[in-house]
Amino acid sequence: MYGRYSERSWLPRVIALVVIILFQASGDERVQEECNATMPPIPLEFAMGTEAYNKAMDSGQYRYVGNTKCRLCHRKFFIGRKKDPHDYAMKRLEAGQYEDNPRCLMCHTTGYGMPTGFVNRERTPRLANVQCEGCHGPGNVHIKLAKQKKPAGGLLAGEDRPDRLRKMCQSCHTERWNRSYHDLDKAYAKYRNPNPNARKHVKESK
Ligand code: HEC
Ligand code: HEC
Ligand code: HEC
Ligand code: HEC
Repeated sequence: MYGRYSERSWLPRVIALVVIILFQASGDERVQEECNATMPPIPLEFAMGTEAYNKAMDSGQYRYVGNTKCRLCHRKFFIGRKKDPHDYAMKRLEAGQYEDNPRCLMCHTTGYGMPTGFVNRERTPRLANVQCEGCHGPGNVHIKLAKQKKPAGGLLAGEDRPDRLRKMCQSCHTERWNRSYHDLDKAYAKYRNPNPNARKHVKESK
């Protein structure tokens, strides 16, 4: 019958709709869990240990400068990272109107909760997203040394400290936010490359 036929043709659509709704719900689940969880740690404090972190911060020496300063000497990295998800992490929050939620900002910006780190979009737009210093730590001391032609160093997480840098990753990539947790080694190695998301056959130009 015609009636029966048209009734059945709705069935796949209803199933598709239910599947879509379920998928969206499972996407939001982690956000809901996060909202009910305790505040995440400051990544750099987690990576350095509280004592060493406090000592470094109390010295007042270290400042976040923003990734445009890194461009001067690390142009390949600066340009390569434009395609990296860390470079648009803040967009994720804007899409869901979580852009002023402290717990989200801790992992989706650079240096949130620290003396010279991200505060909000109005005051510190230059430190939105997870930038160079979001992984390597504040860069002012490193730049000063480099300009004096001294051996580069001065990065709290990134200088000869693969153990610390890995802990930086782990501070943000917790079990909840673990899409790539199972292959952290592989993900870590990828970031030695100026452009972690380049396809293999694309050669980096200087
Ligand atoms: C004035 C130039 C200069 C600027 C600006 C600069 N760097 Fe460097 N950086 C260097 C030099 C020189 C090295 C030594 C190794 C090399 O030749 O790549 C280096 C090395 C590094 C390394 C490798 C680890 C190490 O300490 O040897 C990292 C990571 C790094 N820089 C990150 C940054 C970040 C992040 C910024 C921005 C906050 C930045 N750099 C800004 C000159 C600079
Ligand atoms: C300050 C927090 C923070 C730090 C530190 C951090 N990440 Fe991330 N990472 C993020 C966020 C937030 C995203 C999601 C960005 C988006 O998709 O908008 C992300 C996305 C990624 C992705 C792509 C999505 C995925 O899970 O497959 C990889 C791979 C990744 N990070 C690896 C690393 C590695 C390796 C390190 C350490 C060297 C690191 N991250 C350090 C916050 C961080
Ligand atoms: C402990 C660090 C951490 C906190 C806190 C955090 N995120 Fe994330 N977020 C990540 C990382 C790491 C990724 C990328 C890896 C992944 O998706 O598993 C990510 C990915 C995302 C994504 C992309 C997910 C997808 O399916 O593509 C959204 C949206 C997001 N976060 C929203 C939020 C919101 C909203 C909050 C606050 C309620 C928040 N995050 C708090 C670390 C964090
Ligand atoms: C997601 C975290 C992450 C971000 C963001 C990030 N890096 Fe790195 N970077 C790493 C890791 C991991 C390594 C490899 C360290 C190692 O060899 O153990 C690395 C290595 C480097 C090196 C040394 C490369 C070499 O040849 O040894 C430089 C220079 C550097 N990064 C600069 C930058 C600059 C500039 C930016 C921003 C444009 C940046 N990084 C953003 C994680 C990151």
